[in-house]
Amino acid sequence: MSDALVIFTPSGKRGRFALGTPVLTAARQLGVDLDSVCGGRGICSKCQITPGYGDFSKHGVHVAADALSDWNAVEQRYHDKRGLKSGRRLGCQAQIMGDVVIDVPAESQLHKQVIRKDAGTRPMVMDPATRLFFVEVTEPDMHEPSGDLERLAAALRAQWDVPEISMGLDVLRKLQPALRAGQWQVTIALFSDHSGGAAQVLDIWPGLYEGALYGLAIDLGSTTIAAHLCDLQGGQVVASAGIMNPQIRFGEDLMSRVSYAMMNPGGDVDMTRAVREALDTLIAELAADAGCNARQIMETVIVCNPVMHHLLLGVDPVELGQAPFALATSGALSLRAAELDLTALNPAARAYLLPCIAGHVGADAAAVALSEAPEQSDDLVLIVDVGTNAEILLGDKRRVLACSSPTGPAFEGAQISSGQRAAPGAIERIEIDPDTKEPRFRVIGSELWSDDPEFNANVTGICGSGIIEAVAEMRMAGLVDNSGLIGSYEQTGTWRSVAEGRTHSYLIHDASATGGPRITVTQGDIRAIQLAKSALYAGARLLMDEIGTDTVDRIVLAGAFGAHISPKHAMVLGMIPDAHLDRVTSAGNAAGTGARMALCSKAARAGIERTVTRIHKVETAIEPRFQEHFVAANALPHATAPFPELSR
Ligand code: FES
Repeated sequence: MSDALVIFTPSGKRGRFALGTPVLTAARQLGVDLDSVCGGRGICSKCQITPGYGDFSKHGVHVAADALSDWNAVEQRYHDKRGLKSGRRLGCQAQIMGDVVIDVPAESQLHKQVIRKDAGTRPMVMDPATRLFFVEVTEPDMHEPSGDLERLAAALRAQWDVPEISMGLDVLRKLQPALRAGQWQVTIALFSDHSGGAAQVLDIWPGLYEGALYGLAIDLGSTTIAAHLCDLQGGQVVASAGIMNPQIRFGEDLMSRVSYAMMNPGGDVDMTRAVREALDTLIAELAADAGCNARQIMETVIVCNPVMHHLLLGVDPVELGQAPFALATSGALSLRAAELDLTALNPAARAYLLPCIAGHVGADAAAVALSEAPEQSDDLVLIVDVGTNAEILLGDKRRVLACSSPTGPAFEGAQISSGQRAAPGAIERIEIDPDTKEPRFRVIGSELWSDDPEFNANVTGICGSGIIEAVAEMRMAGLVDNSGLIGSYEQTGTWRSVAEGRTHSYLIHDASATGGPRITVTQGDIRAIQLAKSALYAGARLLMDEIGTDTVDRIVLAGAFGAHISPKHAMVLGMIPDAHLDRVTSAGNAAGTGARMALCSKAARAGIERTVTRIHKVETAIEPRFQEHFVAANALPHATAPFPELSR
């Protein structure tokens, strides 16, 4: 026998190879996803495989005990020094000696699939733009003078098929010491994205670098900034954190920030500085949390709405405040993070901003589309990313529409009399007995309901999901009428309905006697929620009009806040169109997930750049029907639209 059958699992790829062929070579020729950092030198252990022995009737082969060569000196040395798990072999050293079935474990796959914890449909597959390469560089020779960088480039060409590289000054300064300390062997972090062009050397280490590389996925919202630090090789999130966007002091919502920039010369610069400083602080905090050196953070992907996008870039957002809402650029941007004054990560780190869809629909909406894949959906899906500005997508395989709607910060607990952001002590769940009109509630940080004798949580306020539930429960308990008016004591029969001037409030919790808070839902709170939910509904309805439908097949609630909204309560308020409650799901922070997918995958970046060009934008700000829908949606749940699912 001069050749043998090799079958790789789980891919199922198979082929015949001459006896003596290394497994890594066979894998490469078949296009099997088997990692390698050292290029087959037997030192990185990334190429580990598990051969199977015995009968494999499914594949029609019997694998003899000697189907792979015995351990050679290199593999033995690795095992002696570092230890190989039982049954594992180094794919670059083991040679094919007979028919064999070879399993490539997940950790040896470069393009491994990462398990998504949310309900999103699109798989998350590793395909990072920044990878490690171990290179052996020729020593300098007086008779053939060439620079160390040029010889490194030649080595990368010969050993890794990298046609061209570039290197910034910061890395160039490290090149010579690293080459000499590593005795002409170095590991480099090479960035090469989907756009082509020269690969960029982001960092260099003497010898074999065995540490991790990290990337940051940042969802830069108008009110909060959320970031995930991810392992760029495995895709796992190693630390997450969130902070308030410090630009709030310049204006609570986007348009007030644009106004601030218009009214105050240099105001945009102040806002740019504030958000960049906040990002740097967040990055340092995440690195400390994960116990990593911030220099190991090689990339960041940032998603945000257009105003945040421009302010982060240092572009005056004034054009976004007036029709035709022209963006400075709608395309994706690949930059040096240092250009954004982000200094807490590797000095050569890259920053990628997803494309914006249009003047009011930003890279955050693109990230939601990347996470939720409406363009691949068989059924008509409405995706609502609930925040200070709601991003709304509606579509299926045939077409996808998008708009944004100015909901304001009420859904995040702002502009609510007892409102606060979601934090321990905030009421997040509430039920009101329709007969007694008595409330019971749960606060963040406590498992117990307030009517439990053991309940002793420190109640501090009510968060966004709490206020949604409170108003919906008040409506279901008959405390609030269809127009949103809170009834008096005489009308509702409960002492909790308290007169305040000419309107009434509903008292949920009163600890004022002991110096604690008095938490009520006021008429003003209900009006704020009505305005926010009307904007949300009107945006969704406008997209439905555009497609020519009165119903959608399913609804996805996205956003950190969207993840906590109860679908039933959202529908009682008429925040979302009528749909069977089983068909309303939560996607968690889909924009953040989309950012993470783009961080971990060049293919995801290329894919969303293509998808965005096919998304049709509907501009709510100039569409007269938006106002009509907005007014009709003010009622609870709606003045005219039927909500048959609510009466089931
Ligand atoms: Fe590095 Fe096999 S490829 S040890």
